[in-house]
Amino acid sequence: MKTVVSGIRPTGQLHLGNYFGALKNFVKMQHDARCYFFIADYHSLTTHPDPEHLHGNVQNALAEYLAAGLDPEVATIYVQSDLPQTAELSLLLSMHAYIGELERTASFKEKVRKHPENVNAGLLCYPVLMASDILIHRADFVPVGKDQEQHLEMTRKFARRFNTIYGVDYFPESMPYNFGQELTKVPGLDGSGKMGKSEGNGIYLADTDEVIRKKVMKAVTDQGPTEPNQPMAEPIANIFTIMKIVSPEDTYRFFLDKYNACEIRYGDMKKQLAEDIIKVVTPIRDRIAEIKSRQGYLHEVVTAGAERARLSADETMRAVREIMGIKPF
Ligand code: TYM
Repeated sequence: MKTVVSGIRPTGQLHLGNYFGALKNFVKMQHDARCYFFIADYHSLTTHPDPEHLHGNVQNALAEYLAAGLDPEVATIYVQSDLPQTAELSLLLSMHAYIGELERTASFKEKVRKHPENVNAGLLCYPVLMASDILIHRADFVPVGKDQEQHLEMTRKFARRFNTIYGVDYFPESMPYNFGQELTKVPGLDGSGKMGKSEGNGIYLADTDEVIRKKVMKAVTDQGPTEPNQPMAEPIANIFTIMKIVSPEDTYRFFLDKYNACEIRYGDMKKQLAEDIIKVVTPIRDRIAEIKSRQGYLHEVVTAGAERARLSADETMRAVREIMGIKPF
């Protein structure tokens, strides 16, 4: 049986990017693989969240995971910091991670550019910790969005390097996964770039119908094509990309044909897109509030999850320590 691992930082509510980039894939895979899903609270510390809010954010993320269809009966769901073995593996792997390659990571460079006042060592070592999350369970597949592709490449590099240095065949080549398709990048509706919390352009699984309609109707558009089959400007291509992900195939085709025939009415397209997003979000949103109120249940889920995750993590750490020469007297 294949092993699948993935995680999401508890930085607020889940948006369509998280859902279609990663979570929906987990949910589809959970019955056919050994699945581990965790809330990456260690990773979120790089941006110094208020300690007063961190735990609430973790609870929120957990409730949203469960509402989106993760089943704790079949998947192991835990909080990253409940598995300190991950931190130990990160320390050990960091001995073979080179400063130069860490500094060249795209996500690190972007953080340095955006927040020059907070270039901490945790940020630099972020890919090592992420590799540890994945390798602690020796994952075959990692469902993630396109923005995590480079982190997965680095995970494979660290795994290969470990195997080569110690002459073992211990860590697998963990592959990013999206059902045989290209990894997904859900764009924002503000003209360019991806949908993200820090981009401030998220459509959240917990948004009300009204909020969703407002956000979609505000999407950036242009004057419309002036000749048949004209290439799309980025903001228009982004609306089509979201429609392709969210709406039925024939709806997407209908508006694409209209665009290609220069008959597109963006207002109609946005109205349809908003309704299709609402269809996806409604059943999840309804469950979020209900699950959030069941504190006892949330506690049970992560306690049992951490226990199960520990079995796999302890086995890996025993082997890694042995391979690296750390032996009991
Ligand atoms: P995070 O918390 O930023 O995002 C969680 C997941 O959502 C995906 N995602 C998107 N996918 C497509 N389009 C978007 N606009 C979009 N925005 C977010 C991300 O690709 C991700 O899969 N480093 C990770 C968390 C992490 C992790 C791991 C993931 C830590 N350890 C081990 C997998 C395995 C992160 O910051 O994701």
